[in-house]
Amino acid sequence: MDKKPFYITTPIYYVNDIPHIGHSYTTIAADTLARYKRMRDCDVFFLTGTDEHGQKIEKAAKLNNEKPIELADRMSGRFRDLWQVLDISNDGFIRTTEGGHVKQVQNAFKKMYENGDIYLGEYEGWYCIPCESFWTSMQLSSDNCPDCGRSVEKIKEKNYFFRLSKYQDLLLEYFDKHSDFIKPESRRNELHRRIVGGIDDISVSRAAVEWGVHVPMDDEHTIYVWVDALFNYMTALELDDSSALKRYWPANVHIIGKEILWFHGVIWPAMLMSLGEEIPYQIFAHGWWTLEGKKISKSLGNAIDPVEITETYGVDPYRYFLLREVPFGLDGNFSYEAMVNRINCDLGNDLGNLLHRTLTMIEKYRDGIVPEYDGLPSAEGKELAERSKTLNNEVENAMSNLQFSKALESIWDYIGLVNKYVEISKPWALAKETSTKDNLNEVLYNLAESIRVISLFILPFMPNVAEEMCNQLGLSSDEESVRHNFAWGGMRPGTKVCKGSPIFPKFEYPVVN
Ligand code: MSP
Repeated sequence: MDKKPFYITTPIYYVNDIPHIGHSYTTIAADTLARYKRMRDCDVFFLTGTDEHGQKIEKAAKLNNEKPIELADRMSGRFRDLWQVLDISNDGFIRTTEGGHVKQVQNAFKKMYENGDIYLGEYEGWYCIPCESFWTSMQLSSDNCPDCGRSVEKIKEKNYFFRLSKYQDLLLEYFDKHSDFIKPESRRNELHRRIVGGIDDISVSRAAVEWGVHVPMDDEHTIYVWVDALFNYMTALELDDSSALKRYWPANVHIIGKEILWFHGVIWPAMLMSLGEEIPYQIFAHGWWTLEGKKISKSLGNAIDPVEITETYGVDPYRYFLLREVPFGLDGNFSYEAMVNRINCDLGNDLGNLLHRTLTMIEKYRDGIVPEYDGLPSAEGKELAERSKTLNNEVENAMSNLQFSKALESIWDYIGLVNKYVEISKPWALAKETSTKDNLNEVLYNLAESIRVISLFILPFMPNVAEEMCNQLGLSSDEESVRHNFAWGGMRPGTKVCKGSPIFPKFEYPVVN
């Protein structure tokens, strides 16, 4: 059967900044969704990349005494390396300095110019370099950028404009017809109100910026970096293989941070409408992480490198923490104390111990072999099987709505149920009597099977832990069709388990080195 295409993207990150937990959050969320969809038999294309043009990069390179492309090469490499460390399974990585991208952006720009949506005008107003955003005097907040609060510079240039105002009604109509287009709903409503309030044409070129894609019909100008950047979502699909665009476009979901929703939810669909292209199904704007209560940025000196965090705490616990701690869509505060708590309690006590004690009992009572059992299943055993089915539905529901923390909550409810099952069925007592031999077989089988099922559900979140659980369960040589079977009963009796050391080391807070 032909697999359903599923196209998922992250923002492309600016190359002037070092990658920090904020960037890793979006990419880990997208990776988790990509892995989940692959497991559910979708043909996934997962794209990330780097945004390399514009005044901000030009300025950063100058300060560093290097050419913009040198800075871009170096920093783009850092993002790529980080994604390797974090086990990000992206299928594509686009750089906006790639020739193929540049050419396609120019083609799109030309098309919008030819259809009358781009025209030459004069821009007078303010520009925020860190945000790469244009602002009117009215929009400024205490003379600073209303988004980031930093100072802005005055510009007066002959610029090309895009007729965004023309799309006001079409955008509102689109929003009304597609209730899932922007998520979460509160952000959709905010954006909707902004569009109703009126939208002006926007400047889409810069005369004073050299480091960018040149306007095809006017070499004096470069294309506004946001226009250049947004097109990456389409151009990346055409770089190597033109049929990919046909297969994967429109994107199923662009995952972004809340601060760039205006570009994705208004400018991007309007340009696509102008070009007669299809609009992505969904844009999901997640919240922002602060670090111990403070905004994260290089200039504040608190942009800790995710590599450092994962060297101490491990990649999978870090991935788990980010997606479990804060409902996707809301803001959150990163604290080491909260992370250590989650690792010790949810991962160590609830999950790690369950695996370890189960395998210890299978080794002790059944020579390490998952037993077969005869007879009718007990009520508690049936409940485990039944709950695994409802869990399947709950996780599917949560993941379709990008509610990662909710999916994990459901999985941990199930882990709690299995832990309770151990306490209620007391395998250590059953092992003392020969008359309860079959009861013990049932309990040990059910425990091994529940853990197999749990390992499947956590795979998109913690791929290495899931793999390790499979190894310890003795399933590593089984085919994916067996390992990726969500239906209860997939564990083969007779499987030899292979207990290892506990999968989650305990941490103290504050960390003692
Ligand atoms: N280059 C643009 C995006 C163009 S997409 C066509 C850009 N780049 S960025 O490097 O500034 O990355 C912004 C993204 O990084 C946010 O949208 C978000 O996904 C992520 N985050 C950066 N800091 C963050 C936090 N403190 N918290 C959560 N995510 C944040 O904007």
